[in-house]
This record gives sequence, C-alpha cells and structure tokens, in this order.
Amino acid sequence: MVTATQDIILEEIHVEGYERVVKCSDPKTGMKAIIAIHDSRLGPALGGTRIYPYEKFDDALFDVLRLSKGMTYKSALTESGLGGGKSVILLDSVKGKTPEMLRSFGRAVEALEGKYICAEDVGCSTEDVKIIREETVNVVGLAHKNSSGNPAPFTAWGVFRGIQATALALFGTESLQGKKVAVQGLGSVGMILTDLLFWHGAKVIATDLDENRCLHAKQKYGIEIVKPDEILFVECDILAPCALGGIINKGSIPKLKCKAVAGATNNQFLDEKTDSKKLAERGILYAPDFVINAGGLINVEFELCKEGYNPIVARNKVDKIFDTLTSIYSIAKQNRITTLQAAISLAEHRLEYGIGKRVENLCFHH
Ligand code: NAI
Repeated sequence: MVTATQDIILEEIHVEGYERVVKCSDPKTGMKAIIAIHDSRLGPALGGTRIYPYEKFDDALFDVLRLSKGMTYKSALTESGLGGGKSVILLDSVKGKTPEMLRSFGRAVEALEGKYICAEDVGCSTEDVKIIREETVNVVGLAHKNSSGNPAPFTAWGVFRGIQATALALFGTESLQGKKVAVQGLGSVGMILTDLLFWHGAKVIATDLDENRCLHAKQKYGIEIVKPDEILFVECDILAPCALGGIINKGSIPKLKCKAVAGATNNQFLDEKTDSKKLAERGILYAPDFVINAGGLINVEFELCKEGYNPIVARNKVDKIFDTLTSIYSIAKQNRITTLQAAISLAEHRLEYGIGKRVENLCFHH
C-alpha cells in the first residue's frame, strides 16, 4: 500500500515476522528512508535513526531489519515497556545530509502517529534529532533539563557489570583483579569501560584506529596497546568489542584466544545463527550484545516517565544487567543451548506473555 501525506510517500513493505516496515520518500527534499517496527506488543517501538550512504536499498533494508529486531529483544529483556524499532536514512553521498531532508524524515515519523520513536545513532547527531523534532514530538535524547543525556556512561557501566557477571560464570568470582580484558575501540563506551576496568584491578589491553585515543589511554591507565588487527587474537580472559559489528565470524572464531566475548558492539556476529554455535563449540562464553549493551536504552527509558529523568533510578536498573546475564548463562548451561538462544527464548517468553508491557503513557518532556 502506498500513501502520501504532506509530500511524504509512505510505501508499506511486507516482511515476514515484522509488524510494519515502511519505505519513506520525499521527491522534493530527496529524503529516502526506511522505518522498521519489529514488535510493539510491549510498547511503542523505539530505536535510533542511522544515517549512512548505503550502496544499495537492500543493504539499508538488511540493516534496519536486524537492528529493529535487536531492539525488540533488548527492550523485552530490560522490561522497559517499549517495543523494537529502528530507522535508516539512505544518504546521497553527493548531496549529503540537509536540514530539509531531516525535516521530511520527521514528517514521516509523525505520520506513524507515535508507533515509532527515533533517537540519535550512527551518522545522526543530537543536532540532527533537534531538526527532526521540528516536525514530530516522537524523539528522545534532546538536550533539555529532563533529558537522559549522553547514554555512553550508562552503556559502559552495563557492559562493566556484564563483564563481572561473565567473570563469575568463568571463575566463580566477579572480581576482575588481575583478569586480562582486551578492549576493541576506545570511543565513547570503550574509554569509560577502560576506566572502570582500571579501577577494578583488571589488566587491560586495548586498541583503536585513532592513535591519539590509544596514546591517551596508555598514558592515563598504563595499559598495553596493540595494533587494531591484533586485538581479537590476543590471549586474554575476556574480549570486549566496543567498535563495529560483524567481527565474530568464521574467519575470526578459530583464532580467538579468549575465554569469553562480552562487549558493547551491536551485532557482533556476522552470521548470527552459525557463528554463535561455532563460538560455543569452541567453549567461548558469549554475552549477547543486546543484553550487555542495554544500559543506554535503560537510561533513555527514564526520560519518558511521568516523574521525569532520574539518573540514580537509571543507574540502579542498569546494574541489573549483572543478574539478567547471570540468569541467561545459567539457562544456557542447564538447557545445553547457546547463550544467544537462551536470551532470545527469554525475550520471546516476555513478548508472548506481555511481561513488562507498558501501563503508563509515554511522557515527552521537550
Ligand atoms: P564510538 O564511535 O564513540 O567509538 C567507536 C570507536 O571504535 C572509535 O574510537 C573508532 O575509532 C573505533 N574503531 C572502529 N573500528 C575499529 C577497529 N576495527 N579497531 C579498533 N577500533 C576501531 O562508538 P561508541 O558509542 O563507543 O559505541 C561502540 C559500540 O557500542 C558500537 O557498536 C555501538 O553501536 C555500540 N553501542 C553503543 C551505545 C552507546 O550508548 N554509545 C549503546 C549500545 C551499543
């Protein structure tokens, strides 16, 4: 079905297992986007807007589908009363990003009548979200007094607690004293994670494509720096990917020398089904990405509550990533399934029985 509203053309794409996938375009501004609502049984679908120069439409579709599904599981496991969604804007590398294009994307979001809420993501800054906001209220992450602010410290704290849960599963103690952790990527999340690991006595080995970040971390924390192409294969207790996805694949799995993979990166497997099994067959424990990196989503959830944002409440809930991951490790062990299968089953169970379903309306404070 194709509908048009205020120059925006909305074209429904049928995708099995997805509630709604909409191709959005505006010939006047050149805006081309896809909004995917994977599942909204527990609440309105929330997920960032990725702005990227995709080579083909199918690449953008693939990205938005897998990312929105991940958001459904992430939201279900955190009982945030939100559903899973995501959007991608297909950037024309010649024309680039324009305010007009962002505004017409905002009108497309508005046309979905609150079923999808967007936020910043790769290629989409807070400034861009501010422009999108001119056309729709359905955005989060803007700078205002009730805003949840930068999600990275909350994500990093969740990853850190997840690493402690992983240490507990591996060694019978959550202490990281003397444990070797390899951090791939010293960006917003990876740098804060390195700080937390440092103060808890871990031995950190890290890398980044940006040499200045490596130098800074080496100077501040005395950590060992290796080349970007070496980090995945260093001998360590826990590998913490905090850069880009697809790094756990058939090429890298046989060469990994870690006991567990537990990091912030979204979509760590290149081929989720096969690679998660291969990793488990090698006896390497895996912290499902949508479980361990949920701190940012948990933080934003509190921006939408009636009382307004409270960082203490957000931090305390992020802390629970430790318990969620510990349960997932235990379910996987008892049932002889992969940790990814255990996490998905737990999320599917909550979706089926409406556990954590939103009872209060969302409250936008901007
Ligand atoms: P960022 O963009 O601030 O940092 C990523 C860092 O990785 C950059 O410093 C970059 O130079 C480095 N990098 C990229 N490719 C690399 C490679 N091959 N080897 C070594 N370093 C490399 O991103 P951020 O916010 O720290 O996020 C990291 C990951 O965590 C991303 O996959 C993101 O999707 C995921 N994530 C982030 C959240 C957040 O709150 N920022 C929330 C949930 C997931």
